Amino acid sequence: MTIKTFPENFLWGGSTSANQIEGAWNIDGKGPSVADVQLFRNPQTVAELNNVKGNTDITDDMIDTALKSNSEYNYPKRHGIDFYHHYKEDIALFAEMGFKAYRFSIAWSRIFPNGDDKYANKKGLEFYSDVVNECLKYNIEPIITLSHYEIPLNLCTKYNGWYDRRTIGFFLNYVKTVIDELGDKVHYWLTFNEIDSILRHPFMTGGLIENRFPKDKFQTVLYQAMHHQLVASSLATKYIHEINSDSKVGCMTTKLTYYPYSSKPSDVLATKEKMRQVYAFADIQVFGEYPSYLLSKFKNENINIKMTKEDLSILKENTVDFVSFSYYQTSCVASDESNLELTSGNTTIGVKNPYLPSSEWGWQIDPTGLRISLIDLYDRYRIPLMIVENGLGAKDTLESDFTIHDNYRIKYLAAHIKAMYDAIYEDGVDLMGYTPWGPIDLLSNSTIQMSKRYGFIYVDLNDDGSGSYNRYKKDSFYWYKDVISSNGSSI
Ligand code: BG6
Repeated sequence: MTIKTFPENFLWGGSTSANQIEGAWNIDGKGPSVADVQLFRNPQTVAELNNVKGNTDITDDMIDTALKSNSEYNYPKRHGIDFYHHYKEDIALFAEMGFKAYRFSIAWSRIFPNGDDKYANKKGLEFYSDVVNECLKYNIEPIITLSHYEIPLNLCTKYNGWYDRRTIGFFLNYVKTVIDELGDKVHYWLTFNEIDSILRHPFMTGGLIENRFPKDKFQTVLYQAMHHQLVASSLATKYIHEINSDSKVGCMTTKLTYYPYSSKPSDVLATKEKMRQVYAFADIQVFGEYPSYLLSKFKNENINIKMTKEDLSILKENTVDFVSFSYYQTSCVASDESNLELTSGNTTIGVKNPYLPSSEWGWQIDPTGLRISLIDLYDRYRIPLMIVENGLGAKDTLESDFTIHDNYRIKYLAAHIKAMYDAIYEDGVDLMGYTPWGPIDLLSNSTIQMSKRYGFIYVDLNDDGSGSYNRYKKDSFYWYKDVISSNGSSI
């Protein structure tokens, strides 16, 4: 095959979230969010990693302790990489790499510190307006995620997060404030990051403090919160389209691709069931209705969700324009996993695939899995796709001359870009863009480690909080710059 470039206007860029980069957690009127009480985990082995539960075990006592603590060491997301004060320098570096797009999120509690406040925090709005203007200065298209694991803490403690229907109204209030401010300058919006992760991380994604609810009712609580988020997402989509009809709104799903561990039909069936947990959310956001497999589950498992007729028409009338997703790794599923080796992945633990290598964090590296994922998603939804997260979390070494030789990262990304290329030109997938995760090193979401680095730009900051916060270009910085300037043909 003759190598062509990627499609014209392909959105090459990078992706971050507010809670993993900004810091300034209590500055200029920002209120605490779920991220500010997330404890440093620092697992050292894959076995320890498999026990990182992503704060599903959070209790009111843990929140109280966190709020009484001033420690930025125990709660590193409070300092992030101090993007709040470095954004100009960081966006200039993105521009130097030639970014066409930058995906970032807005911290809801920087705009409404308690979530239910009457008035918006002007300083918060100013900050995001400055960030957007800085991107536009370099012709970088901002892609904004409205909620990326940053629900204001007060909404969790006072209202039980997304379980309470009133949270839809608070979210809408926040969305309208943001869109009124930025809607004419920003053309791409994502409502909820990895919306399906509420099933795996009820606190981080849904603001649910699990031990407040009876164990046997928790499934109902989870799916009720899911329903409220989906209605809120559709209402946000509606408002964005009304304010600027040129805007495109995407859903954002964790593309966990699972393979059957063997060709045993029971393994294949178990895999299908697992995949439905991934697809359920985008199915609703794209097709505008609950899939019958989910309605059957509700019925069979006695999960009673309150949904009004009006909710159902809101979902139906306000579907998304494109599907965005994160992709890092794949794993396997078996009908009986009791004697099989497990390994961790993105917000999940799965059966280890004997045919794939793993990262230091146990995530199994699988570029072909990206091509398979693109085919699956496009065949299913038939609307444009965008890969808004992908990358290799690895330990880097800062040499004495301030260089960083991260050939392993280049190898990982090149293989995934090649898989994208094949999906576009051989499989006919409509792919709009690629914004790999953490173009600048940032705090890991699962372990809150700084040492798990994804960036093209190194940030001199260590797990114990020491470091200068200086930024240095890695070898991958120059490599990605070439990828973008050649529109992918340098791969
Ligand atoms: C995704 C999240 O789940 O994966 C990001 O949207 C996260 O917030 C990324 O950082 C990588 O995961 P981790 O745990 O390595 O930071």
